[in-house]
Amino acid sequence: MSPDDNLVLTSAAEAVDTPLFRYRAVRARTETLAAPLSPEDQAAQSMPDASPAKWHRGHTTWFFETFLLAPYLPGYKPYDQAFGYIFNSYYEALGPRQPRPQRGLLTRPSCAEVGAYRRHVDAAMARLLSGALSPEILERLELGLAHEEQHQELLLMDIQHLFAQSPLSPAYRERPDPRRAAASALEFIGFEGGVETIGAEAGGFAFDNERPLHRVFLEPFRLADRLTTNGEWLGFIEDGGYERAEFWLSDGWTMAQEQGWSSPLYWRQDEDGAWSEFGLSGLRPLDLAAPVAHVSYYEACAFATWAGARLPTEAEWEVAARSGRGFKQMSGEAWQWTASAYAPYPGFRAGAGALGEYNGKFMVNQMVLRGGAAGTPPGHARASYRNFFHPDQRWMFSGVRLARDGA
Ligand code: AVJ
Ligand code: FE
Repeated sequence: MSPDDNLVLTSAAEAVDTPLFRYRAVRARTETLAAPLSPEDQAAQSMPDASPAKWHRGHTTWFFETFLLAPYLPGYKPYDQAFGYIFNSYYEALGPRQPRPQRGLLTRPSCAEVGAYRRHVDAAMARLLSGALSPEILERLELGLAHEEQHQELLLMDIQHLFAQSPLSPAYRERPDPRRAAASALEFIGFEGGVETIGAEAGGFAFDNERPLHRVFLEPFRLADRLTTNGEWLGFIEDGGYERAEFWLSDGWTMAQEQGWSSPLYWRQDEDGAWSEFGLSGLRPLDLAAPVAHVSYYEACAFATWAGARLPTEAEWEVAARSGRGFKQMSGEAWQWTASAYAPYPGFRAGAGALGEYNGKFMVNQMVLRGGAAGTPPGHARASYRNFFHPDQRWMFSGVRLARDGA
């Protein structure tokens, strides 16, 4: 069975939409994703931005323990007092924590102990979810499940980055990466603009950063009907894109020089000039028709400038996504950089307490990405979903959809 097939089988008699069922499905998917990884694979951390797979498994468990079991399951005692330090990611309200860059030094707890922690918390969650569920419990459950899904994608990003450092170029799975190719000629679809409404509607789960629903004003714009391909990116490289400062933002140019960027993160060129790309299925010949991925915001901007275009704003992207017009690859191939700074929507206020730290405190110096990638769990993202990363980061499954002014 391949690691990201959903293992949950349903019988007609079983209710698939109960909180407990959905909890078990998400939790099982994490374990399925981690299953191909050895304990050595699961302990390593390839860079400060990445986390060991074992840590993702523990941290997502700690999230349910801290935000659901401790407050709502009478008599629940934390599995291990030390885990609050080890698996707290960034919640200042919950006290000190293992420094993020040193998560790879956590040889203990072992993978087996993390597995035992998961089973302990799962058993307690089964008790909690079998009782009466207040709206607050249900809301936190939704958050905990969406949170674990975010970490499922992070786990894949981090494993790809880790394996890319190995001289063996190991494959996480045999199946080629499912970034669907887009061979069609690039077309732009026009919009008149005007006053539009974006954000998540009330009812149904959304992260707090997608709210409130609010109006925006858009000038006429055009949005590409598909993602930028590897072949198009190769054109940028061959035209000296990485050597010509004229296309680049100043900070981007500085970063490109410092880091020695000359292609997307996982591209490699052999002595004969042939390109390949390292992915979760190992090193493969570069697929020119597949969407480009693993580019930073800075690279995406330089490419757009070279192409005589620009990146869309997040509002343009969302209006287009909701329009039902002929866009391809809006979700499921690569996250799409937008020209929008990750900032609070008008009227946004972070919640009280530790959970208020979930999104709000990161609303500076990052850029919004829209859509969803091949590594995003099915059903996780939506039209209003706001992903965000720093403009120099590129280990995410981040790609490009071009935009232009005027309808
Ligand atoms: C939305 C992917 C930037 O990686 O910090 C995980 C997701 N939030 N745990 C991140 C997240 C809390 C978040 N990103
Ligand atoms: Fe987290």
